[in-house]
Amino acid sequence: MKDSAPVLYPKEQVGRKVTEYSEDHTLSLPKELSEFHAWILETQETANYTISTFQAKSLVWLARLAGAKHVLEIGCYLGFSASIWSYAVGPSGTVTGLEFDPEYAKIADSKLAGLGIKNVQFKIGPAADSLKAISPSTPYDLVFIDADKSGYPGYLSALLSRSQPGSTDRLLRPGALIVADNVLRRGIVADPSDANPHAKAQAQRALKAHYGKDTDLAALDEFNKEMASNKRIESWLVPLWDGVMVGRLLD
Ligand SMILES: C[S@@+](CC[C@H](N)C(=O)[O-])C[C@H]1O[C@@H](n2cnc3c(N)ncnc32)[C@H](O)[C@@H]1O
Repeated sequence: MKDSAPVLYPKEQVGRKVTEYSEDHTLSLPKELSEFHAWILETQETANYTISTFQAKSLVWLARLAGAKHVLEIGCYLGFSASIWSYAVGPSGTVTGLEFDPEYAKIADSKLAGLGIKNVQFKIGPAADSLKAISPSTPYDLVFIDADKSGYPGYLSALLSRSQPGSTDRLLRPGALIVADNVLRRGIVADPSDANPHAKAQAQRALKAHYGKDTDLAALDEFNKEMASNKRIESWLVPLWDGVMVGRLLD
């Protein structure tokens, strides 16, 4: 029997090469979207908020596999992943983005307008409030959760309670995909021991900043457990990038 946890790449450099090679052999993004991503990397101190181009490609592939036409995004930053969903669903599809920060949403709006993207609408405010207020004419085919990590369990609970079988005001359609980013947090959620150098570094940062216990990690663990155990969901935790949870709403 094959071991399901093989150490394939003994050195970081090999892992990097393999990742580059894999991205080169994955579908291409339109040039203007790659340039938008490069602009974020070059100009923003917080550029690490945005997904990588390789992860973006995987999301396009996933959305198209699911035949998604209507996407809900929770946490939009400067709009790069929203532009990816827009590309994935095509001009006849729609993207609704929930973003807390009006400055980010303003930049996202103007960048997407500059790219000629017309099917993305941002709603500004805490996502927990927006999730109560929105009422899409067609339920979403896919939701991408990428906002504050401590909010993930609450977002899942709101999405499920507002997508009840038989309801005429569902947020998610039966069979919709629930995709959530950063669910492993550099592996710390799965291995918080000192054997994980990221866990050690995180603990030191937390001590320095005097915020003690990292509530994000506990919330992500709670979210992953709920995705895996809820009978309404079939889950797949993909250990790529920072950990991506993919779930399918069964009812
Ligand atoms: C990791 S970034 C999103 C990156 C984006 N999905 C991308 O890949 O380009 C997280 C975003 O969530 C937003 N955010 C944080 N807390 C939020 C909340 N309570 N409600 C809505 N958005 C929130 C932040 O302002 C930030 O823009």
